[in-house]
Amino acid sequence: MSPATAATSSMVLRGGRPLEGSVSLRGAKNSLPKLMVAALLTGERCRLRNVADIVDVAIVSDLIRALGGTVESPEPGVLDICAADLKPMERSVLREFSGRSRIPILTCGPLLARFGQAPVPSLGGCRIGSRPVDFHIRALQDLGATLHEEAGNAHLSATQLTGAKIRLDFPSVGATEQVILGAVCAEGVTELSNAAIEPEIMDLIMVLQKMGAIIAVNVDRAITIHGVPALRGFDHAAIPDRLEAASWACAAAATNGRIFVEGARQVDMMTFLNRFRQTGGDFEVTGQGIAFWRASDGLRSTVIETDVHPGFMTDWQQPFVILLTQAAGVSIVHETVYEQRFGYVEALNRMGAKIQLYRECLGGLKCRFGQRNWLHSAVIAGPTPLTGAEIHIPDLRAGFSYVVAALVAKGVSTLTNTDLIQRGYENLTGKLQSLGADLLST
Ligand code: EPU
Repeated sequence: MSPATAATSSMVLRGGRPLEGSVSLRGAKNSLPKLMVAALLTGERCRLRNVADIVDVAIVSDLIRALGGTVESPEPGVLDICAADLKPMERSVLREFSGRSRIPILTCGPLLARFGQAPVPSLGGCRIGSRPVDFHIRALQDLGATLHEEAGNAHLSATQLTGAKIRLDFPSVGATEQVILGAVCAEGVTELSNAAIEPEIMDLIMVLQKMGAIIAVNVDRAITIHGVPALRGFDHAAIPDRLEAASWACAAAATNGRIFVEGARQVDMMTFLNRFRQTGGDFEVTGQGIAFWRASDGLRSTVIETDVHPGFMTDWQQPFVILLTQAAGVSIVHETVYEQRFGYVEALNRMGAKIQLYRECLGGLKCRFGQRNWLHSAVIAGPTPLTGAEIHIPDLRAGFSYVVAALVAKGVSTLTNTDLIQRGYENLTGKLQSLGADLLST
């Protein structure tokens, strides 16, 4: 597969047209890179299907190659990965990749399993909060790794990781994946509590089970991993991207159009679908996907608190806020996963939205940010007409939301830094064109 070469750094579009038509989903941006990392746990060939042509996949492909593995694409949407000749991570390789993605931290478990050592990255990824890696490091230490720090560089070492009882302070997606990837070849049993149970994590567990792992997902966010001495290759189709599906749903309802999202799965989106319907969106689930549109009685305000799965995902928050700017009444959104995920609303207010941010927790969920002075609750008064603007995109999800805002707005908008959207949305320009968006230049 070619890396996501269609990247553009700007997009000029005129709003006012409803989006009509269909788009198809491929593998989830938050699943594919982790499945690629799982392939580092074996010397056998691993085949990954339903692979999206997105930048995050290209980055992890390059990382695996830099580690001595091979990544080939025998046909579009398929990747063959082989880590038979994997070598330890050099600090220069780590430095090159850790500024571009959060995935390098997840190589620690596989590298410890294969070489007994792994350098610890300081990470890139979207700037939506401090995003530390303390849970990751502590979990690997619980599994028996030792942390060394010299001249500002940290690395972990372990002759053999050993099963342990680990409790996460928060059900972090990445830290849960870290524990699973670290414990799968450890000696003995690992009991992880307060784990995240996102569908993308279940996808990783499915792959590892195919590889020979024994992993049980129990009640109350507990995951038990029985370490096995070796793993084999896999053939697996990644789950479709439910974040992209929700993004197009919001675009359909916000522009008063209708979009059929081929590949969208109801089971992964139940919380979103409920809230979408309560807000005046409607949908029809078929065997091939889900069609989304705005119901005839219009959009109305709602109250949302983001949460870990099965709650309302933090990554659904931004496109949903655009929808709420078009809904009648006062909506409230309480962000409880990231402390700084409302930076993007300032540009929306410039376009005519009426969104106010608050430090207080505007909701009933127990949240880590209320006492710490973060602007993490939003009050949105709607409906407000939006007008075109010049906007610089700060992060992936905010980027797609600005596209939706520009599609709703009267007049022309110029979005810059649109490359960031290509990290998680395959062929964005082509999809927008096929849905009838008035793209003036890309
Ligand atoms: N956290 C810590 N310490 C840690 C790890 C996490 O304090 O060691 C905190 C974070 O700062 C954050 C919270 O825990 O406040 C949740 O972070 P989590 O670890 O769950 O996030 P992540 O694994 O880094 C993944 C997705 C994100 C998605 C979150 C939550 C990938 C590559 N990224 O991030 O996706 O928002 O889970 O579902 O899977 C996106 O797609 O736009 C995106 C940011």
